[in-house]
Amino acid sequence: MILSYIFSIIFFSLSRTNFPSALGKLSCTVNGLTHNYLAITDPVYDTDSETTIPYTYHLPTENVSGVQASTWNIRASLDQNKNLLMSISAINEKGVQSQGKDYHLKFVLTLRCTNGSTVSMNTVVPFVDSNNHQPFFSKPKYVYNLISTYEEDFKRQLELNPIVATDYDVTNGELVFDVQGNEYFKVLYGGVVPGTLNKKHFAQLVPKFPGKIITKKVEVIMTVTDIGNPPKSNTSKVVINPPSPPTPAFKKPFYVGHLYKNGTFEMSENPELEEGVTYYQTSVQIESCSYYCNYYATISEGQIIIVKNCNMGDSFYRFNYLACSLTAKYTDPITKLFSTGNTALIVEHHHNL
Ligand SMILES: *[C@@H]1O[C@H](CO)[C@@H](O)[C@H](O)[C@H]1NC(C)=O
Ligand SMILES: *[C@@H]1O[C@H](CO)[C@@H](O)[C@H](O)[C@H]1NC(C)=O
Ligand SMILES: *[C@@H]1O[C@H](CO)[C@@H](O)[C@H](O)[C@H]1NC(C)=O
Ligand SMILES: *[C@@H]1O[C@H](CO)[C@@H](O)[C@H](O)[C@H]1NC(C)=O
Repeated sequence: MILSYIFSIIFFSLSRTNFPSALGKLSCTVNGLTHNYLAITDPVYDTDSETTIPYTYHLPTENVSGVQASTWNIRASLDQNKNLLMSISAINEKGVQSQGKDYHLKFVLTLRCTNGSTVSMNTVVPFVDSNNHQPFFSKPKYVYNLISTYEEDFKRQLELNPIVATDYDVTNGELVFDVQGNEYFKVLYGGVVPGTLNKKHFAQLVPKFPGKIITKKVEVIMTVTDIGNPPKSNTSKVVINPPSPPTPAFKKPFYVGHLYKNGTFEMSENPELEEGVTYYQTSVQIESCSYYCNYYATISEGQIIIVKNCNMGDSFYRFNYLACSLTAKYTDPITKLFSTGNTALIVEHHHNL
């Protein structure tokens, strides 16, 4: 078992070796070759469903009785004048590993010689790849939440939501990415996606100035171009949302204040925010109360305090209550982005107290 395994390895490596002609005369051959390397010059075109090679010259054989190719899509035969002919059916570009510009079909022709020996002829055929596939992105839009341009942050975001473009042409081993002008980042080629036969490719976001604060939404067109002839392109979008602070949430939907006829104003309780007054710059404001009487909201030692700023006038007896809106605003100290949240302030007028 082990011996036969070792033997098969030796046999395999021997049969894979291109024997130099010095090792001895070939038992039979093609085109008078004294080595077993056959370079075809007539190319195969990717768009032809079947190509017979060669088509501009003859490949006479000598002492060959039969021939077979190692690849399923190639049929090798001898014509009545003992010339070698190969019929190559179109490769499925989607199923073949992409390799780059000088893609060649490579296979072994096994020549059966008239004296019973066999000769392995390593054969290459040039392949002309028309750019019949257009590259395309995996998504019409890639959205990232970023507050600033740090290489590490871009990498983390791209791990979660990679930018990938696909191109099926076998001679496009790489793609070119570009992005519309913006002050924050460029897009570069980021390598092959493993296990995709070199069909899928990553794009990389690279900061122009690392650590620059992103203060507004960025939405730019990104282009992928293959390196075929003529090149083909497609587009997608990159959107970067700098995160706004969370919406300030009050603990209660309304708060009640009391105004007495002696002019005293007091709240049943002070309004409070769920998150408290923390990382974000917090401000509070009272709106749409009454033009008869103003109320102000301020923050003092983390407490939201409502104060009255008016004289007791007619309005005290004209209304049973006033309804005001109390708004809190969180502002990010770095990006200056903000968000607001509301609650209601009801001021009861106690006409008889
Ligand atoms: C066939 O001929 C070649 C020389 O032309 C020789 O080296 C080889 O051993 C022969 N094979 C057989 C099976 O006779
Ligand atoms: C083909 O066979 C003939 C007769 O056996 C021999 O003279 C000749 O050298 C052979 N040619 C090759 C290339 O082996
Ligand atoms: C880009 O690729 C998409 C998806 O394959 C395709 O539907 C679209 O037509 C292409 N856009 C252009 C401009 O060719
Ligand atoms: C005003 O009246 C209210 C209700 O009667 C009372 O609680 C408060 O102490 C009074 N304020 C002053 C300054 O007299």
